[in-house]
Amino acid sequence: MAMNPYVTYSPTNDTVFVISLPQTIKFGFGVSKEVGYEAKRLGLKRVLLVVGKKLVESKLFEDVRQSLENEGVAVEINTRVRVEPEDEELIEAYREIKDKDLDGFVALGGGSTIDTAKVLNLLHTYPRPIEDYINRPVGKGIIPPGPLKPLIAIPTTAGTGSEATSVAILDVKQIKVKTGISNQYMRPTVALIDPFTTLSLPPMVTASSGLDVLNHAIESFTSRPYTSKPALKNPGERPVYSGATPLGDMLARQAIEWVHKYLRRAFGDPYDLEARYYMMLGASIAGVGFGHVGVHIPHSMAYPIAGMVRNYYPQDYEFGYPIAPHGISTAIPAAYAFRYIASYNHAKFKEVVRILTGKEVENVREVGESLFEYYIKLLEDLHVPTNLRDIGFTSADLDSLVEGTLKQQRLLAQSPKTITKKDLEKIFLDAIS
Ligand SMILES: [Fe+2]
Repeated sequence: MAMNPYVTYSPTNDTVFVISLPQTIKFGFGVSKEVGYEAKRLGLKRVLLVVGKKLVESKLFEDVRQSLENEGVAVEINTRVRVEPEDEELIEAYREIKDKDLDGFVALGGGSTIDTAKVLNLLHTYPRPIEDYINRPVGKGIIPPGPLKPLIAIPTTAGTGSEATSVAILDVKQIKVKTGISNQYMRPTVALIDPFTTLSLPPMVTASSGLDVLNHAIESFTSRPYTSKPALKNPGERPVYSGATPLGDMLARQAIEWVHKYLRRAFGDPYDLEARYYMMLGASIAGVGFGHVGVHIPHSMAYPIAGMVRNYYPQDYEFGYPIAPHGISTAIPAAYAFRYIASYNHAKFKEVVRILTGKEVENVREVGESLFEYYIKLLEDLHVPTNLRDIGFTSADLDSLVEGTLKQQRLLAQSPKTITKKDLEKIFLDAIS
């Protein structure tokens, strides 16, 4: 029998994994209307409700506001949310709220909205220049001195899993780098996960966020095991992302199966309740999985792709600026990256192929090819480009793309194959040509 990589005890390697979650996760049709009850339970009197400009006109928004006000919670509204938030915008949004007397935050929206609320909460609770908190090496990576104000997150896309994670992703505009703020205090206090909120998602947003879920699941599932990390001198040094764990594996397997079964259905019929239910639950469990395990190459490649995109204006993302939606900017490179590295974690990739295709593929090379074919077909079915050239990149961008990816060492370190500059050049070239 092959050695179990998890069941090992060694003085040179870490032997512990950690799962941190919101205090409360509630899931189910209609649960967003329990926001007032939750806010009151947390003792909140005046909250900032962070919501995107489109959603602010919806019945969902009215229901959420009503629920809060019915419980005697005063609601301030902030709609300064940008898809893929930028540091300058976040600072502007903070200026608008900094003198307000708030004791909590509610985020209603996709990953960008939840991330915006996380950052506003951080700056409002412990004011400092934003760069102090941005991850090293771009910023100083300062950890706030204690808990932030309570944040209730109500996700409206089945994708990012941001409602359960301690990370906010943002663009640093001046240096055109996508990075993040991550510390344990950023995690929402309560997540209210309501599949009804996704019924109005347009098809391309459904496609992109669903692809993100698939990548979270496959990347975390195929990461190096947590026992491959070096032993720590003290527990405080243990990174948020541990590498693959048995629990992460379990969640990823189920999420992969549900995305396979339900993403095309949710894309084809927005009102398919069963598909929406399982996509939402799949996104959440994949979020709990990758939230402690981490992700690797496709997500690292997505940073420069999203940061450098110049002339791609996908359907349903008409904001007046070019954008490579997060799920699309991870799924295109995923097809090529997984094919490239599949042989370095044969057992896990073989299992992914089995879940997605029902086929037992033994041949090491064929596993990568089968997964590649699956991805390309899925992208085509969802009307998503299958190649970086189709979203405006050429071989002239190669150096910058590779350089931008190499900055994401924290993620690349999780790859089952040690990734060099040459590897990335090869994967990017495959994806561009
Ligand atoms: Fe993601």
